[in-house]
Amino acid sequence: MSTQRGRLTRAQRRALDTLLPSYEQRATPYPRPAPLGVEIGFGMGEALEQWALAQPDWNLLGIEIYPSGVGALLNRLEQAGFENVRVAVERAEVVLEERLAPSSVREFRVLFPDPWPKKRHHKRRLLQPAFISMLAHRLEPGGALYVATDWAPYAEWALENLSAEPLLVNTSHGFSARDDRRLVTKFEARGKRLGHDIFDLCFTRRPETS
Ligand SMILES: C[S@@+](CC[C@H](N)C(=O)[O-])C[C@H]1O[C@@H](n2cnc3c(N)ncnc32)[C@H](O)[C@@H]1O
Repeated sequence: MSTQRGRLTRAQRRALDTLLPSYEQRATPYPRPAPLGVEIGFGMGEALEQWALAQPDWNLLGIEIYPSGVGALLNRLEQAGFENVRVAVERAEVVLEERLAPSSVREFRVLFPDPWPKKRHHKRRLLQPAFISMLAHRLEPGGALYVATDWAPYAEWALENLSAEPLLVNTSHGFSARDDRRLVTKFEARGKRLGHDIFDLCFTRRPETS
């Protein structure tokens, strides 16, 4: 696991060393079958913790490659005593490809993905057409994909890519109203401080597809 970005606090390091095996998706199965919700790029994990509080009857998976954020989430999970949350410390593209079955996810949340504003970096953006197709195939028919961003050009680009995916249907015309189930994340707060508008997108998988 890379530690390039962000220095780990002692508590985050301890969490990664001692708690990760109990929460790692591959190592520890969920205690019971339940609808599956997946947050991709959960950052410091505050929204995922809130999701777990709001939906204790679901199984949740957080995917993140940023070690400080994983450590921070593990500490939150331990303190709250959640048994229905797992983490995968790997690129989401790999986790979806190798570890999530088709039609197995009730809801994906992608909150404030890295915007990669420079044109030559656009290929690094997460919501590429091929990745969107993978998200769509992992959703249950009728399942939902939520995206939020504070970067207007990313929002337009994501709307175009999501609208082009044949398995998905936009639940709004264009952008959606803010999903108030969502906590204000670190990056949403940062975007607001910078005076950015926030854009929400919600697509569902066509119910008749399997
Ligand atoms: C801009 S931050 C947003 C974090 C958090 N969702 C928030 O709103 O505060 C984007 C996060 O996505 C993670 N990330 C970027 N590419 C990823 C990938 N391919 N798989 C999983 N996580 C990724 C980064 O490590 C980072 O923590």
